[in-house]
Amino acid sequence: MTVLKTKEELKIYYKDFNSKNHTIGFVATMGALHEGHISLIEESKKENEITIASIFVNPTQFDKKEDLDNYPKTIEEDLHLLEKAKCDAVFIPSVEEVYKNNIASSHFDFDGLENEMEGEFRIGHFNGVGTVVKALFEIVMPTNAYFGEKDFQQLQIVRKMVKKNKMDVSVIGCPIYREENGLAMSSRNMRLTLEERKAAAIVYKVLKSVTQKSKSQSVITISAWVTTQFKDHPLFDLEYFKIADVDTLKSVSEILPNKQYRAFIAIYTNSVRLIDNLSINSELLFG
Ligand code: PAF
Repeated sequence: MTVLKTKEELKIYYKDFNSKNHTIGFVATMGALHEGHISLIEESKKENEITIASIFVNPTQFDKKEDLDNYPKTIEEDLHLLEKAKCDAVFIPSVEEVYKNNIASSHFDFDGLENEMEGEFRIGHFNGVGTVVKALFEIVMPTNAYFGEKDFQQLQIVRKMVKKNKMDVSVIGCPIYREENGLAMSSRNMRLTLEERKAAAIVYKVLKSVTQKSKSQSVITISAWVTTQFKDHPLFDLEYFKIADVDTLKSVSEILPNKQYRAFIAIYTNSVRLIDNLSINSELLFG
């Protein structure tokens, strides 16, 4: 696996490959890799001749400095995992390489997607994500870019950014990779205690029940039920729960046939926030 640190090195790497004749699959990450990331690499390898990952802890998408400082850094293990997955190259730029002297976000209009859910609780987060993903797409010039559905809002925002900026990249959403107990894989899981990690199985359990309940109960009844599941929970507090239209990410009060919805949830412990989501009526549409 080739390790590339600068745009210049990437250019030279592409020259060697005569990139015009190759499809390039790209997986952007902030490191602290887990099997979820590796599943994106595997998907890319199936569909592209070259697969490139990036590892870059993007300072502009953190609304709290301590969150940025505490973000897990496991570069040796990351390189080992990527190598094992037969990723062709990894781009590990410095902050200066991406931002030059101006570590700031551009302002984006994502047609309101940025104001829902995570946008409400993490001010400026999606401007930071839009800025870095646009910069990385311009540098890496991928044919296809792979993002996990765990950050479904991010996925829809990246799609919107690509469309609005007429970028020539296909954005591909990949299913959530889960631990054995159902907990969605996330680099943040490393910061949970063993007890919290076990108990976090409740998130997926609740989402699965929501899927069942959505067949016969109203959104308001389901939302009240979810609230009670966390009301006196010894470890977790509920930050938000909602059932939203997948295109607008706006809450709905009614589930209509032939439309696609997801249930979205965020919970937090002392120091870690966990998010998850599940399609609630995909079987009505596709099965
Ligand atoms: O999902 C992430 O890890 C990050 O938000 C991303 C897409 C790599 C941008 O920094």
